[in-house]
Amino acid sequence: MSMTPDWDAIRADFPILDQEVHGKPLIYFDNAASSQKPRAVIEALDRYYERDNANVHRGLHALSTRATDAYESARVKVAKYLGAASAEEIVFTKGTTEGINLVAQTWGAKNVREGDVILLTEMEHHSNLVPWQMLAERTGARLRFVPVEPDGTLALERLGEWLTPEVKLFAFTHISNSLGTINPAAELCAAARAVGAVTLVDAAQSAGHLPVNVQEMGCDFLAFSGHKMCAPTGSGALYGRAELLDAMPPWHGGGEMIVTVSYERSTYKKAPGKFEAGTPNIAGAIGLGAAIDYIEGIGRGAIFAHDLALTEHALAGLVSLPGVQVQGPRGRRGGLVGFVMDAAHPHDLTTFADQHGLALRGGHHCNMPLMKKLRLPGTTRASFYFYNTMAEVDRMIEILTTAGRFFA
Ligand SMILES: Cc1ncc(COP(=O)(O)O)c(C=O)c1O
Repeated sequence: MSMTPDWDAIRADFPILDQEVHGKPLIYFDNAASSQKPRAVIEALDRYYERDNANVHRGLHALSTRATDAYESARVKVAKYLGAASAEEIVFTKGTTEGINLVAQTWGAKNVREGDVILLTEMEHHSNLVPWQMLAERTGARLRFVPVEPDGTLALERLGEWLTPEVKLFAFTHISNSLGTINPAAELCAAARAVGAVTLVDAAQSAGHLPVNVQEMGCDFLAFSGHKMCAPTGSGALYGRAELLDAMPPWHGGGEMIVTVSYERSTYKKAPGKFEAGTPNIAGAIGLGAAIDYIEGIGRGAIFAHDLALTEHALAGLVSLPGVQVQGPRGRRGGLVGFVMDAAHPHDLTTFADQHGLALRGGHHCNMPLMKKLRLPGTTRASFYFYNTMAEVDRMIEILTTAGRFFA
């Protein structure tokens, strides 16, 4: 594809966008919750189910071989997409949440002890908070949080106050799903390494939006969800540095993850097989591979530039609306904007927007502690992807202007 993608042609790849909701053209601005799927991904799933469907790894027949080849080639695509050293560093999961729980329950159980510190930030999604709370409860470890400053960024100049040698693991989000803040992942990983801490990056909001390279970032683990980047629900992956994955105990027990089994005990495969017990989401992984091909066809640099342009345009419109406060950084940020309208609760505003065909999200966005800190009941969030247009952003501002009058 050329340097400037043909955004109109790309949008036409998403059949779902061509519809009316409540008699108005659909504007889908709930991409941070889940993205839409291009025809290329839908067709890859159809092709798999129409021609190749069979269980992977254990069959000696043609369909099983084809399914296995497609599943394993999707793993290679994910590895390349993330800049991993090898496909063995990629564990298929059903999404970010599962990837983080896997690390908390296996790496965490083996390495975290009473008195150790698990460092998080105040802007973590519940997915990157609750698994660590559960681990802390089990082990007696302590949780610590890097504060969020009033401008929505992390207190980086004081990072050393929290990132001390007792920190065993530093887990943080790459892009905040409610503030849009882009955290300097490579800088944070380097600082963690300097005190001997392992790092986990929650890339749920970044993997489909900007170039992510785990080796350049220097992280130990990175988790993402397929459904937020054009792939089917229930797909995703965890990257883990080979040395760490190899030293971790298995997670779920069952078929597929073993080498030998007796009535008394079993031996396990090497990573990633030991973390993929049971029949995996074969179609999901193949769909994720197709989504990666599709995204790479556009280019993540171009996607990120498009995100930035839409977000800047939305910010300019939102700050001009009376009684509206935007949350998060005013400068460079990911492709989403959370805001509060004085006159309307986020749920009421979101319901109003829906009546105009505009899909927003209102609430705490799985950031309850952050909302409490900000003293907000929640926010209304518009989140963009590459198939969204400037005209849709303009239309959103018109709808919000009408809402401001309606609720006043
Ligand atoms: C920053 C962040 N982390 C984790 C998640 C959880 O993703 P999933 O529900 O796909 O596991 C989300 C989903 O919204 C998110 O935005």
